[in-house]
This record gives sequence, structure tokens and C-alpha cells, in this order.
Amino acid sequence: MRLTAPFAYLPLLILAAIASATIPSRRGPVSPQHVNLWKLEARAKALEAARTAKASSLVLQDSTNGFAHEPEPLHTPKYPEFPEQFFEQPVDHTDPSYGTFKQRYWVNTRHYVPGSGGPVIVLDGGETSGEDRLPFLDTGIVEILTNATGGVGVVLEHRYYGTSIPVPDFSTDNLRWLNNDQAAADSANFMSHVKFEGIDEDLTAPRTPWIYYGGSYAGARAAHMKILYPDLVFGAIASSGVTHAVLSNWEYYEVIREAADPACSAHLENAITTVDTLLQFPVLKDVVKALFGLHELKHDDDFVSVLEGPLGAWQSKNWDPAVGSTSFDDFCESLSKPVGAPHIGALPIGHEDRLVTLLDDQKIDFSVLNFAQWVRENAVKPCLELNTTVEECFGTYDDTQYTNTSLTQEWRLWQFQVCTEWGYFSTAPPDPNHPRIVSKLLTMDYATKLCRQAYPPGKHFTVPAQPDISVVNVLGDFAIAADRLAIIDGEVDPWRPCTPHSEYAKDRKDTMLRPFKLIPNGVHHYDEYGLRDINDEPPEIKQIHYEMIEFVREWLQDFKA
Ligand SMILES: *[C@@H]1O[C@H](CO)[C@@H](O)[C@H](O)[C@H]1NC(C)=O
Ligand SMILES: *[C@@H]1O[C@H](CO)[C@@H](O)[C@H](O)[C@H]1NC(C)=O
Ligand SMILES: *[C@@H]1O[C@H](CO)[C@@H](O)[C@H](O)[C@H]1NC(C)=O
Repeated sequence: MRLTAPFAYLPLLILAAIASATIPSRRGPVSPQHVNLWKLEARAKALEAARTAKASSLVLQDSTNGFAHEPEPLHTPKYPEFPEQFFEQPVDHTDPSYGTFKQRYWVNTRHYVPGSGGPVIVLDGGETSGEDRLPFLDTGIVEILTNATGGVGVVLEHRYYGTSIPVPDFSTDNLRWLNNDQAAADSANFMSHVKFEGIDEDLTAPRTPWIYYGGSYAGARAAHMKILYPDLVFGAIASSGVTHAVLSNWEYYEVIREAADPACSAHLENAITTVDTLLQFPVLKDVVKALFGLHELKHDDDFVSVLEGPLGAWQSKNWDPAVGSTSFDDFCESLSKPVGAPHIGALPIGHEDRLVTLLDDQKIDFSVLNFAQWVRENAVKPCLELNTTVEECFGTYDDTQYTNTSLTQEWRLWQFQVCTEWGYFSTAPPDPNHPRIVSKLLTMDYATKLCRQAYPPGKHFTVPAQPDISVVNVLGDFAIAADRLAIIDGEVDPWRPCTPHSEYAKDRKDTMLRPFKLIPNGVHHYDEYGLRDINDEPPEIKQIHYEMIEFVREWLQDFKA
């Protein structure tokens, strides 16, 4: 049976398009559009799964031709060397009557030398399935540090993510145990009580030195663990640790605007001001939305929010081409492609030779046309190919879209955390005269509306009108510091303004006891990724890895059980 009809692979292609072009990282700035993209991706995956199921049943029926094979098991572990394990945790650390759940973790004992006094290096899974972190156990930072110390490596899944789910659904009430205090208490309980399978030695804290590593949100958690549980956490490494929680995260785009190729930033600034201006005129509004293939989208803020999509690709850059995306650079390059005579690309924005007519005497820079074409091809087309309307894909005003609380709706988790404790809402700069690459229609009201739509008040819990970011910032904010707490950030990480490397933070010395390091040209937690042989890594990554090995070894010499 041949399955080569052109449509057979369509969902796969669409998935690839969505992944590479329109879906900014899950941990990007918080915009209602993310949920839509999550749904679009889920729809494409479901279609793909249906196609595969159909394909394998067809293959099985056709078992006489010699090509039949067993269908793949539904869930093949990618890292059979690290089978999943489970640790029993109370649902509520302050009230045992709510019972327990199983928190998942994975262990790397490749380099473990029994009786050597080696550490446990634990990597906090943060706001995603712990499975997504297994590469860091295999060739990334955990492998690197355990190899260097003879220690045991662990990836610990965060409560509510992956399979570490303590509740039957994600209703407002059932999400009430998804908070910083409960998650920190999980880690402390795990560190002081875990018994690793196949290891006789007692490796619990504080008898054994534990080094707590995290990147991004988990990086903030690593720093928090060092402050909250100094007796259990011997050392901690906060990579791109967002220890500064904030309501408006407008500076995220500021980093990109300043670090991107200046020609690209100029195109973006001009395109966004043009769009904002045109949207003010009822006649032109429809024309400009149609240009982007989005005339059927009812609300203007939804429209400009789609234009924010390609910027998220900045965060998906990585020094390792096997992991990173080139989508941001591709997007920039497409903006500057001259429409018409080749020489116009070199002319300054605003030069009349660069202008093309939109309607009557209304002219726009050719790069706006390129921007529109990018959106039509990389956002609108994948949407239409899934037989959904643009309103279904990009509209955010239908409240019923957000009421499903089943465990399949993973987007409800991080969204709940930002609505209650973390913020980071994606808005335009508060100063209307500040240069910007996102529309001024991206207001706080728009960015936070999912908090009101998705979480109606429950019996036991109500999502506050604004997240209580003080619960994060009281733990140290930009100034968070402790002996054996390392702060590692990326020079052009859009999250840098929320880390101790923010320009608002006091400068500090980089010392062995309190390492404070900025990776040149680094984006988001670049040190978390690694190659099998770190000597094959680019110089700035190899350097940070050798420095990390050095300070962790030095710390361990101070350990007294
Ligand atoms: C979309 O609808 C058309 C016509 O009904 C159908 O042929 C096509 O397979 C559908 N595409 C997907 C991805 O469902
Ligand atoms: C919620 O979504 C799941 C998965 O798509 C679906 O199976 C379920 O029927 C939905 N529940 C409701 C109440 O709509
Ligand atoms: C593992 O450690 C050994 C001994 O320190 C070292 O020679 C080797 O390069 C390390 N491997 C990696 C991948 O870091």
C-alpha cells in the first residue's frame, strides 16, 4: 500500500511550518496569541496522528506483500538509558489530607563513583515536560558536571507538567497548588528523602552535596532554592534565571530591537508604525489587514498580535544548529528583499523610490509588503490548510475557546503561573514616543485578558486582578546573591532585563564563590546545551563550560557533611 497522495503529509508539513516560523518559544513573552498557536499545533498533531494511525492500519491489512511491519509502540522513550522514576509528593505541603501524587524524575549514573563523595547535580525541569530536558542529562550541563565530579545527575519534573500531575483537571481550583512555594517544597522534600534505585549509598541532602541547576524560570527557581533551603542546597546555578518578576515585559523586545541587524530593526520599526497609522483610518484598516491575509480577523489587537509572532524566533536561536532555529534571520532577510529595482534596497527608508502604492495616494515602504507576505505564508497559510478560519486561528475574543479544563490543555499551566505570580505580559513600551517593533495596540489589558477568560473564580481559589509579583521579588530580585550561587546569563538574551544582569541591577564581581558570568553573544541559557565532547563546542560555550566545571569543583572542596 503506497501512501504518497500529496495530502498525506500535509499535517507534517504544516507542523514544520508552525514550528519553524510562527510559534515563538513557549517561554517567550506572554500573549493570548500563544494559546491559539498551541491549539493550531495541537490540531496539526492530531491530524498527523490520525494519518499515521490510518497508515499503519493500512500497512497491517496489506501484510501479504512482505513489507508489513509491527506498528511502532505509541510512546518509544528517546533515552532508554534513563528510565523514568517516581517520587511520592504531597499535593499540598501544608495539608496532608489532600493526598499525594507521583513526581517524575530521571537519573544519569554514568559517571557515578560510589563512595567518592561526588555530588548530586539536579536539573529543575521548569515549566515543561521533564522529557524535554533529557538532552541536558545526556550531553548537556548535567552530563558535563557529573563527568567532571563523579556525581549522579538528575532531571526533576516540575509539579503539574509532563506526567507529574496532582489533580484530575486544570480548573481554577485544581490549579491552586501550582505555585512557587509548593514547587520549592517538592524539591526540598525530594532532595532530603529520595532513594535512587540501584544505589545503596545515602545520597540525600545535606549528607551529600547537591548542586541545583535551572535555566530561565527554572533558573530563578535554582536561585530561590539556594535562598529558601540553604541547608539542603549546597550550590546552585541560575542560568538566564528570571529573578525579577515584572508586569509589563516590554523590554524583551527592546533587547531584540537593539541586538538585531540595524537594517532589520529599521524595517520592523517602520512597518509597525505604518501599520499602527493605517489602522486609525477605517478605509485603510481593511486594506492593510487584507494585505497580511487577515481581513477576516475582527479585532485589531489580534491582528497586530499576529505580527508579533516572528519576533519570538529570536529566543529560539541556539549556538548548536541541531537545536536552534534560523527563522529570525530568515525573516529579516525576507524583509529586505527589494520589490522592484534591485538598487532600492540600499536607499534609506522613506526614499520615494522605495515606496509602493497601497491605495490611492497612500504609499508604503516595500519592506511592509515583504512583512505581509511572510505573515501570509507562515501564519495564515498553515491556518487555512488546517481548514480553520483566521478568526478561529488568531481571534482571542471567544471566551468558550478557553473553558476546556481537561489535562490535554497544557497551556493552562504556565499561563496560570504568569497570571498569579510571575507576570511578564507582552506589551508595547509604556512611553508612546519610545521606538518600538511591536504595535501600540498591545496594551496590558489585551496581554492579560486570558487571565480573566481562562480562569473563572473557583470555590477555593480566585486568580487575582494582577499577579502578586512580590512573592518572586521578595526573594532577592536583581540583587539575589549567596555564596555558591552562580549567575550565568546571555548578552543578547531577551530575558536579560529580568535577570541580575539587567542594566538596572548593581554590577558585581565575578568570583569563585559567587560566579557572575555573561556569555558573549549568548541568547537563552546557552550553557545548558552541550556536545558529547565539549572541546567541539564554539569557543565561548566551551569556555563557560570549563569555568563551570572549575567553580563547581572548587565549591565541592569546601563541603563538610
Ligand atoms: C480540508 O478540507 C478539504 C475539503 O473538504 C479536504 O480535502 C482536505 O483534506 C482538508 N484538509 C485537512 C488538513 O483536513
Ligand atoms: C476538552 O478537550 C479534549 C481534548 O481535545 C476533548 O476530548 C474534550 O471533549 C474537551 N472537553 C470539553 C468539555 O469540551
Ligand atoms: C570527562 O572527564 C574526563 C576526565 O576529567 C575528561 O578527560 C573528558 O574530556 C570529559 N568528557 C567530557 C565530555 O567533558
